[in-house]
Amino acid sequence: MGPRRGAGWVLALLALAHWWAVAMEASHAVYESPRSAPPAATVSSELRTRYHFRPPRNWINDPNGPMYYNGVYHLFYQYNPNGSVWGHIIWAHSVSTDLINWEALEPAIYPTIPSDINGCWSGSATILPGNRPVIMYTGIDSQNRQVQNVAYPKNLSDPYLREWVKPEYNPVIAPGSGMDASAFRDPTTAWLGGGGHWKLVVGSKWNKKGEAILYRSRDFVRWIKAKHSLHAARDTGMWECPDFYPVALRGQRGLDTSAAGGSDVKHILKVSLALTRYEYYTIGTYDHVKDKYVPDGTSPDDHTGLRYDYGNFYASKTFFDPKKNRRILWGWANESDTVDDDGAKGWAGIQAIPRTIWLSRNGRQLMQWPIEELESLRSKHIVVQNTQVPRGGFLEVQGIDSSQVDVEVTFEVTGLEKAEAFDPSWTTNAEALCGQKRANVRGGAGPFGLHVLASANMEERTSVFFRIFKAQTKYKFLMCHDPTRSTLRPNMYKPTFASFVDVDIPESGKISLRSLIDHSVVESFGVGGTTCITSRVYPSTAIGRNAHLFVFNNGLANVKVSKLKAWEMKRPFMNGA
Ligand code: FRU
Repeated sequence: MGPRRGAGWVLALLALAHWWAVAMEASHAVYESPRSAPPAATVSSELRTRYHFRPPRNWINDPNGPMYYNGVYHLFYQYNPNGSVWGHIIWAHSVSTDLINWEALEPAIYPTIPSDINGCWSGSATILPGNRPVIMYTGIDSQNRQVQNVAYPKNLSDPYLREWVKPEYNPVIAPGSGMDASAFRDPTTAWLGGGGHWKLVVGSKWNKKGEAILYRSRDFVRWIKAKHSLHAARDTGMWECPDFYPVALRGQRGLDTSAAGGSDVKHILKVSLALTRYEYYTIGTYDHVKDKYVPDGTSPDDHTGLRYDYGNFYASKTFFDPKKNRRILWGWANESDTVDDDGAKGWAGIQAIPRTIWLSRNGRQLMQWPIEELESLRSKHIVVQNTQVPRGGFLEVQGIDSSQVDVEVTFEVTGLEKAEAFDPSWTTNAEALCGQKRANVRGGAGPFGLHVLASANMEERTSVFFRIFKAQTKYKFLMCHDPTRSTLRPNMYKPTFASFVDVDIPESGKISLRSLIDHSVVESFGVGGTTCITSRVYPSTAIGRNAHLFVFNNGLANVKVSKLKAWEMKRPFMNGA
């Protein structure tokens, strides 16, 4: 009996350990083996992105601790050194002088101490007075609790800050009693408030209430939890990867995270909702003295609120770039490929192209645009001008390799009276509307836009398009990604993504779109960056030289291409891959 009872205990302990592992898994699926010895690949290696950030192989998720330090941009990211599914997470590290060409260094932070021995999860960098960078990240400790640790560069005169050391006094923040130790992670960049206090928030939840827990410190060593959280919202679930920063009320200039507030500054609080796997943000006012953030109330405070991106974009983080006085947004473009294919490919996940962000002129939302450095990759290009797109038809844009391009187009729509009537019940459900009225569904004003990564006969295609509706007093303007025909491969995840674009259709009827196409990703910026959508797609035939680009108009209104420019994109140096 003895040995059997012993085995029973072992099994019970293993089951408990497994339960813990699952309970601790963040919101990523956990697999028993890292699947680093994959079956034969079914996915063409040509579908690897070429100008988006990625390591040579394996799984990546959140961007971590982006910063600019002494002439060098640093990007750390969540990385599985052992395989192409989530697990064994460490901080990989790359450096760049232009945010386009990247050099991979040795991993910066990996489990070595009791307070991170079970994983080094997401976090942020802060530059302390005296130009000293510090990283705060979530460690999974020996009891599987989520705690916050700090790490400092070992040698400040190393231009790449290759090695990071963890002071003995870690962890610096541990979950107090009455807090959920499995939902306490992803510290933000700290900001320096009046009275010499550093402040930051840690993402959390209590029951179903999402929460940004506020901490203060004078020395970055001893941290005290504030009596109230910076902000919380019912029924939103775990808040992963919060981000909190000031934006200028006017202009595109970025502000340092510690910039003092004034009447010309607003604040943004962004959270990544584990429940929906989407992010949302609010614009509001931050009282530096009371440490209170109050959203303006112009957009909802839950998953129906404003989003940076209405597609595959998650766990993002911004940083202030003092080199060009701008705020840059990094976001993880998660896969939509199957786990088996991820195993077969040997890689999963990329970072979206970094975007400059600023507050729109009307103050109602953020605007985003690919960093200007991206234009240095533009090479051979073609131009189409003043060309009518046949109603119910299309034009092919020929003469470039369309699998790796940057396309900018301005459409001119006339005959808006043909727009379909807007049903008010669609207001909060752009995505469902796009799923219902896909690119092939004939409309009044639109759908018009691009078929990208398309096969020659358009059997495969991802459609990026607009549709205009006539509401009571104005036009409603829908932007949509429809990848439902992106591949002939069966059982693929191909969600339609959409949002209404918050602009009045100009008298001129001119509407602009930019799409960054890179083999298995399409990132679109509607109307100068008013609405952004990213999709991962895995064509089976529209690959490499077989990928085509079309302009289409499947509506009754006239659509003209005022101007289209498409550039083939050069391949940057990408982590030696
Ligand atoms: C978001 C996230 C974070 C966590 C990290 C773990 O994708 O779940 O909350 O720190 O990933 O890799």
